[in-house]
Amino acid sequence: MAAAQDMMTVMAGEALTGEEAVELAKRHLVQPWPTAGEIGAEARSLIGEGDGIYITDGTGKKLIDGPAGMWCTNVGHRREELARVMYDQSMQLSYNTPWYTMNEASAVLAERIAGHAPGDLSHVFFTTGGSSAVESALRFMQFYNNVRGRPEKKLILSRGGAYHGSTYLSASLNGRPRDRDWMDGADDLVIKLSSPDPFRRPAGMSIVAFTDSLVAEFEETVKRIGADKIGAFVGEPVQASGGVIVPPDGYLPRIRKICRDNDILYVSDEVVTAFGRLGHVFASEDVFGIDPDIITFAKGVTSGYFPLGGMIVSQRLLQELRRSNHPTAMYAHGLTYSSHPVGCAVALKNLDLLEGGILAHARAVAPYFQAQLKSLEELPLVGEVRGLGLMACVDCVADRESKNPLELDRNVGMRIDAHCHELGLLVRPLINMCVMSPPLTITKEQIDDMVGILREGISRTMDDLRKEGVWRG
Ligand SMILES: Cc1ncc(COP(=O)(O)O)c(C=O)c1O
Repeated sequence: MAAAQDMMTVMAGEALTGEEAVELAKRHLVQPWPTAGEIGAEARSLIGEGDGIYITDGTGKKLIDGPAGMWCTNVGHRREELARVMYDQSMQLSYNTPWYTMNEASAVLAERIAGHAPGDLSHVFFTTGGSSAVESALRFMQFYNNVRGRPEKKLILSRGGAYHGSTYLSASLNGRPRDRDWMDGADDLVIKLSSPDPFRRPAGMSIVAFTDSLVAEFEETVKRIGADKIGAFVGEPVQASGGVIVPPDGYLPRIRKICRDNDILYVSDEVVTAFGRLGHVFASEDVFGIDPDIITFAKGVTSGYFPLGGMIVSQRLLQELRRSNHPTAMYAHGLTYSSHPVGCAVALKNLDLLEGGILAHARAVAPYFQAQLKSLEELPLVGEVRGLGLMACVDCVADRESKNPLELDRNVGMRIDAHCHELGLLVRPLINMCVMSPPLTITKEQIDDMVGILREGISRTMDDLRKEGVWRG
């Protein structure tokens, strides 16, 4: 137990100053993705309130929530309808065991979600978030192939730039720089392919030739390893945390076809892209024209008001299992909070809001959002602004010829974020990049404010870098 003089016991509901909260965090809180030098001893920006597209920090400063939390606060903060439904559902039924019982909200939500899903995706398994959704899909693939008498068909194809989660198997698929430097993974189960990143394609190569090369790499890998050894391909339609990598036209349908031809399950990880980020409930078919075998989702399903995720599975796969020679084989996989009644009730109301106008609004403002952000390419530090729907990335480079982010790798994103914070905007810094994915309710005027602050934040960062002599742009 901690020494008594170090303890400052605060009871629920008791008021606390910002400094006190920071002190408690430094003493007792471990936050995601800490470095060894700071683990358990750091405090991040304290956020006290949220309202619409805005949040308020510990000093009372109002900020535009540029990343919508972690790409999740899709309908915006302080939605009374969502708060009320959580209260009502908790008062009616706060929890039931999904092992032996079920609740109405989860059945209704599964039907609503299946109604939006492409192809024959008909059934939903609910999880607690995105990592557990991807993990569930991968364990389902293993189970499916075991039951079908193909225990060797288990390898998983993933790509550079991917992010699929922080559980052991989902994290093993991650392909961003640094993610795996100090962490172990199930490397013998995963094969990594190239990121479909048009910006950093080989110099002089056309987009068409680049797309062909990605498809050829996929085909050759399947041939070399053997389709009988590969169980699944897992891919984000747009690689989100990898820097909003929008794949070239036609690439995803061609990968889908190779998977189908080789009986490899196509898992479309829509943890970020689903529930409105690209203007539709799901983007796989509506935006990219593919019908996966499994879609994983989380985040926007409840707009971040409650931790919920899930996977949607194809009717065909379930029928094959039901008709197999092993009717008693068990998918020994479940979570205490699968089908949580409060999460499912919130998700239903959230879906009402999205269908009731927010999806249409997101589609309507997306071109303006992209065009305004694109204008930041005028700044010499900015190599490219790319994006789709209401997600975008400002990619900073040392120079446009080499597109080299490394020389500048003094956390340029963090520097921009610090300036923007001063000016009233929260940015998601990613090494040399800034990711923008605000609540979908953002208006054109608010987009102007956001881009104006970002422009000023980048300009101030350029001044700093010049003064320090680390950049001569
Ligand atoms: C595409 C994708 N998949 C999975 C995850 C993991 O989700 P979670 O953090 O809810 O476990 C994320 C998180 O950002 C993600 O972006």
